[in-house]
Amino acid sequence: MSGKSELIYACRRRQPSVNGGGKDCPCWFSQCFILPFANLLRRASLIICTLLVSQLVVGIAPIATASQTEKVKLSIDVSKPGPKIDRNLFGQFAEHLGHGVYEGIWVGPDSNIPNTRGIRNDVVAALKAIKVPNVRWPGGCFADEYHWRKGIGPQRVVTLNPNWGGVIESNAFGTHEYMDFLDQIGAEAFLSLNVGSGTPQEAAEWLEYLTTTQPTTLGKERAANGHPAPYKIAYLGIGNESWDCGGNMTPDYYLSQLKIYSRFARNFNPAQQGNNQMLKIAVGPGGNEPRFIEWTEAVMKAWQNRQWSWDLQGLSLHNYTVVSWDHKLASVGFGESEYSRILKATLEMEGLVSKYSGIMDKYDPQKNIALVVDEWGSWYASLPGANPGFLVQQNSIRDAILAALNLNIFARHADRVRMANIAQMINVLQAMIMTNKEKMVLTPSYYVYKLYLPFQDGSFVPVDFNAGVYTHGEISLPRLDAIAAKDSSGKLWLGITNLDPNRSSDIEVTVAGLTPKKAIGQTLTAPKVDSVNTFESPNTVVPKAISAKVEGGMLTLKLEPKSVTVISVEQ
Ligand code: AHR
Repeated sequence: MSGKSELIYACRRRQPSVNGGGKDCPCWFSQCFILPFANLLRRASLIICTLLVSQLVVGIAPIATASQTEKVKLSIDVSKPGPKIDRNLFGQFAEHLGHGVYEGIWVGPDSNIPNTRGIRNDVVAALKAIKVPNVRWPGGCFADEYHWRKGIGPQRVVTLNPNWGGVIESNAFGTHEYMDFLDQIGAEAFLSLNVGSGTPQEAAEWLEYLTTTQPTTLGKERAANGHPAPYKIAYLGIGNESWDCGGNMTPDYYLSQLKIYSRFARNFNPAQQGNNQMLKIAVGPGGNEPRFIEWTEAVMKAWQNRQWSWDLQGLSLHNYTVVSWDHKLASVGFGESEYSRILKATLEMEGLVSKYSGIMDKYDPQKNIALVVDEWGSWYASLPGANPGFLVQQNSIRDAILAALNLNIFARHADRVRMANIAQMINVLQAMIMTNKEKMVLTPSYYVYKLYLPFQDGSFVPVDFNAGVYTHGEISLPRLDAIAAKDSSGKLWLGITNLDPNRSSDIEVTVAGLTPKKAIGQTLTAPKVDSVNTFESPNTVVPKAISAKVEGGMLTLKLEPKSVTVISVEQ
């Protein structure tokens, strides 16, 4: 925000509230004339304004601190709704990794922890409350070593999990348990196929087992295992990071695999033959390196020249927020320096999404292929004492801000980014939920997903604003971020994030095409940049009510430092 506008706002904020209304300096002067001691007041006001103007002229900072003076104007035009913000942008990822599945979801039917067919009830209730649209499973790197037959039937095959801590994999949580879990939370299936160490036959048989209505041997086996009706598989990932942990493939090698798997992993569910087809998602880029640009070009070019026998509907993008893979930052006990470094790093998502959307536009200008950000989130150093292969980290208000910034980026690219899965849902990396035996705690990131519920399947509405700047040392970031959307009932919602951990922000919102009467919502903030929820203190970072003042069709509200706020605007 320019120094000039700061001065104007300073003038407005400093006037006494004569007749109750907010007025600019000139009106204030005239009102002052009719008050006792008018000359004295006038002289004082002239001195203040002269001082401020002199500062503008010589270009030095105003006397008042920025927190007292800065206002940000947001303007929304509801007559210009954009693309749908697909509810799948709020997807989750659950890998067989640490306590992500075992203990996080699965405790077994004999556990003392309240459960339904082995799946913990507290976790199900918490996930239902954020309307999880889909859950990607079983990995991750784990997927390329997963053999589905070991996880069905009464006798499970016990194997190892060499990727993640080398621990025993009991296979107690397999296909049926995953589908049951989805059913309990009301989410759709997003299976990740084993392309690395599996075969097209194994994948084809898994899909037949899951989806056929015919009395084939596999169909009958599914029924014998408790599910006579075919399952619906909404999304199918063909491999995971095949350029790395998924088999270190070259783009050409992966493409030959992709075509085979896309052809033969068929979905036979009669309900999924028309508009409701299973969407196939190819491995895409994993960062900014030239090899990922080459990879993306190769996959998209092959798709453009495809023959009838194979197809794709999505291209994956993986991107974690990590300042240095060799020296990962801590997830607790950090200060403003680490706060600002992580937020700077996370904003790189915008560049990646723009870059890969641009490449996709070349081969798919109609935007048939979705960019699916199916692994994203913060990646910090493991908590001391935890198995380093379990990727256990705490989740602070910093992660809540990070989540909101990324969700906003996806929403702004909603025409291309139609699915995203935060890594990972429970107990791993940037988790929604943490558990310890019978205890469960909801993280600050969880609450962002809760605040953002109205944006699921909303129509994106552009917001114009001057973000201002938050500076810490060498790092300068936008001070604010905002998105808006209309929900299915036509109600307008505004999400605003104040990145600045030190200064509150005064916001003025005008809405063209709508006369606001009321604006209420919730805000999430915390005492410190590293504030977390723990099993002992689960309510340190929880949303609280907020309402805007509405006057003359304009909304004004004060955002707390380091906060995420969502309000509905009612007319
Ligand atoms: O989410 C943890 C791991 O990160 C996933 O298994 C892998 O796909 C990625 O490298």
